[in-house]
Amino acid sequence: MAGLIPRTFIDDLLARTDIVDLVESRVALKKAGKNYQACCPFHSEKSPSFTVSRDKQFYHCFGCGAHGNAISFIMEYDRLEFVDAIEELASFHGLEVEREESHKTPAQLKKEQLVHKQKQDDYQLMSNISGFYQQNLRKHADAPNVISYLKSRGLSGEIVKSFGIGYAADSWDDVVSTFARNRDSQQQLVDLGMAIQGDKARPYDRFRGRLMFPIKDKRGRVIGFGGRVIKDGTPKYLNSPETRIYHKGQELYGLYEAKQNCKDLQRLVVVEGYMDVVALAQHGIPYAVASLGTSTTAEQLQTLFRTVKEVICCYDGDRAGRDAAWRALENALPLVRDGISLKFVFVPDGEDPDTLVRQHGQQAFEQLLDQAMPMSKFLFEHLMSTVDINTLEGKAALADIFQPYIEKLPDSLLKDSIINELANKLGAGSQQQLQKLNKKQTTNEKLQQRNNHAKVTPIRLAIALLLEHPHLVSVLDDLSVLDRIDMPGIELFRQLMQQCKQNPKMNSSQLLEMWRGTPQQQILSKLLMWDHHVDSDAAEHVFSDILEKLINSFVEKRTELLLQKARMGQLSASEKKELQVLINARS
Ligand code: UTP
Ligand code: MN
Repeated sequence: MAGLIPRTFIDDLLARTDIVDLVESRVALKKAGKNYQACCPFHSEKSPSFTVSRDKQFYHCFGCGAHGNAISFIMEYDRLEFVDAIEELASFHGLEVEREESHKTPAQLKKEQLVHKQKQDDYQLMSNISGFYQQNLRKHADAPNVISYLKSRGLSGEIVKSFGIGYAADSWDDVVSTFARNRDSQQQLVDLGMAIQGDKARPYDRFRGRLMFPIKDKRGRVIGFGGRVIKDGTPKYLNSPETRIYHKGQELYGLYEAKQNCKDLQRLVVVEGYMDVVALAQHGIPYAVASLGTSTTAEQLQTLFRTVKEVICCYDGDRAGRDAAWRALENALPLVRDGISLKFVFVPDGEDPDTLVRQHGQQAFEQLLDQAMPMSKFLFEHLMSTVDINTLEGKAALADIFQPYIEKLPDSLLKDSIINELANKLGAGSQQQLQKLNKKQTTNEKLQQRNNHAKVTPIRLAIALLLEHPHLVSVLDDLSVLDRIDMPGIELFRQLMQQCKQNPKMNSSQLLEMWRGTPQQQILSKLLMWDHHVDSDAAEHVFSDILEKLINSFVEKRTELLLQKARMGQLSASEKKELQVLINARS
């Protein structure tokens, strides 16, 4: 197996990279003051809010919030994983990726290698199991039965193959006995949700006597399964649990296949079931996905809108379907911008996309899709149905009912139209109510801005300045004083200072890279993007000033405490010495 990429190599790569050149190689940039701008490649927009900063070696979109350094850009833009993105960036510079195993402690190194290897093994195993299930369709004694079931559902061998559909035999240990050679591989099957550890020493197969739909990630790796009973039985569908490689809220069944099967993917339809996805593909609609849970999550919607501009949610017309659609709408509101469209279709009671497309065919189903209800219409229909607009009370309540939803929408022409439409509904006397709506909006926006930009505390500003100018670490000779200060944020600041001290040539992008994948990454990115209006020239002055104040306030508090103790005659010898030093330092 290839060794890990050494941190020094990643540092070096980032030091060589100018993010402006890199982004320019993929997106046309225009100079705007100190920065560069373009229409955001990560969401659709008409006026540029995507900004690249040469000073900070960082990009940020004020529209959709995408941000990061050169590596993040490649990961996002080229849709690559970290290691692949490093390979890509290295080839941008004509370099070979170094693989080496020195930098870390042997224990750390070993652990990381194990995790990496584990994942590779996991994907491999899942793929083997999927192959095994597919083979059952040809070789198992039940195969004729299963195939006639597939036929009864109108599926051709070709479609079955393209979705990798297979069969798990009605056996307690087919998978376990085929794939578990030892304790470790038994455990792996359990970890991946393919086997269940009961009371006995050996685990048993989770999926038995079921039609198996492999769930693939964006890159086509099998990460889980959905299994449907062939005869009667419950549950009708059994699904893989969450595992270390399968996170339901992030994946969409059929997305990989849709990307494979449609060269020019323009729109995606979200349906409820595995069978719906496959049946639609069978009937000439290869662009359906299923959301693998009761509602479509914000992450799933984000993935969808990164892939296409039009998403049509297709749900049952019953109560549950309407509720699911409404939850999808709520999740989607913050993502809805001009240029992308979210629509809703409800299928008649007792039907689903599978039965509809089989009965009426591709054209009729696509007509249904073409008539889908725009998000705004669904919003109005749903919210208007909650009040009686013919009463004064109903009208009065309307603005309040709409307010939280309108607030979630980013600024757009669509949002303006929704507000106008609402004004029409409110009719005469609406001026005041609308004013209220607008006013609430602005206070809310302010609140949001404040949240976005985080509260301005000295320690936050210090972190922001250090991130932007890592050389500022030299302002403080001895970092040990930071160990003694106790206040929110100081620990993060201290660690950053240490990282900068260790590598005096560090730049912003390298510093941030050290925090990839940690819980602090987000806040650090935010602080780096933060427009704090401290010029580069003034940075050192402001930074030392903050440090001085921090230290002074610590010294004062500590002195106060020791003096108090002294008055009560409780000072230890070392504390006496400390107090002396502190008092000397103050004067
Ligand atoms: P449906 O009950 O609508 O099934 O569940 P379906 O897709 O129409 O299946 P067929 O046509 O009878 O084969 C829709 C989705 O809900 C989940 C599955 O993802 C299913 O595709 N589901 C349903 C479960 O996870 N478990 C169940 O027991 C039932
Ligand atoms: Mn169905």
